[in-house]
Amino acid sequence: MCIRDRFIISFEGIDGSGKTTISKIIYEKLLIEIGSNKKIILTSEPFSQEIIKLIEEIGWKDPISLALLFTADRAYHLNLLFKQNPEIIIMDRYIDSTIAYQSSLGIDENWIRNLNKYFPEPDLTILLDLKPETAIARIKNKVDKFNFDEKISTLSKVREKYLELAKRNNKIRIVNAEKSIDEIVEETWSIVYSFLNHF
Ligand code: ADP
Ligand code: TYD
Repeated sequence: MCIRDRFIISFEGIDGSGKTTISKIIYEKLLIEIGSNKKIILTSEPFSQEIIKLIEEIGWKDPISLALLFTADRAYHLNLLFKQNPEIIIMDRYIDSTIAYQSSLGIDENWIRNLNKYFPEPDLTILLDLKPETAIARIKNKVDKFNFDEKISTLSKVREKYLELAKRNNKIRIVNAEKSIDEIVEETWSIVYSFLNHF
């Protein structure tokens, strides 16, 4: 594989869509495939424990504060990340999470885009798409970071927003996350592999 200076591959989708599971497997496959030649980092947002604590304190009813805090978290995260000079960054959530979740709470998408405008765009995004009912059933026993009822009730809107973003941006590739983990990994790997081989 021929690799450019730095790639950001993000995983997006509603809570319980399988981002943590699938991004980890893809990361491990990349390590086997090209890890000895390239510095690959798997990381996730929200990142800072301090900012996660602030978000837990304010709850899910103040989308302006949420957008600002998630974006501040991203500034801090990227600052630490780029100091490590990674060549491939696998992000479990990135800018599109703020757009999809906080715009679903009534915040203007363009304002969120402007807040995030100096951060690098992802080069490729895997959108794990599934019905909120399937996702909620999968995570009913999982201890979530922000376990707010208001959040769960907006997941349909968040899903629609993600699908709308994917329609407008061909760097966002939709993968059907209703399928088995093996099938999702196979499809995702073929997208990631052919994307990286393209450069
Ligand atoms: P996310 O990071 O998007 O919230 P997770 O990767 O934590 O999602 O997955 C949520 C739960 O669903 C975990 O218990 C995981 O093992 C399970 N899971 C993930 N993908 C699938 C799948 N395709 N089919 C069935 N269960 C899955
Ligand atoms: P996360 O722990 O990744 O949730 P999960 O693994 O269940 O998908 O993220 C915590 C929650 O924060 C999740 O509901 C999505 C939300 N979130 C936003 O609302 N805006 C953002 O910018 C980010 C990064 C996350």
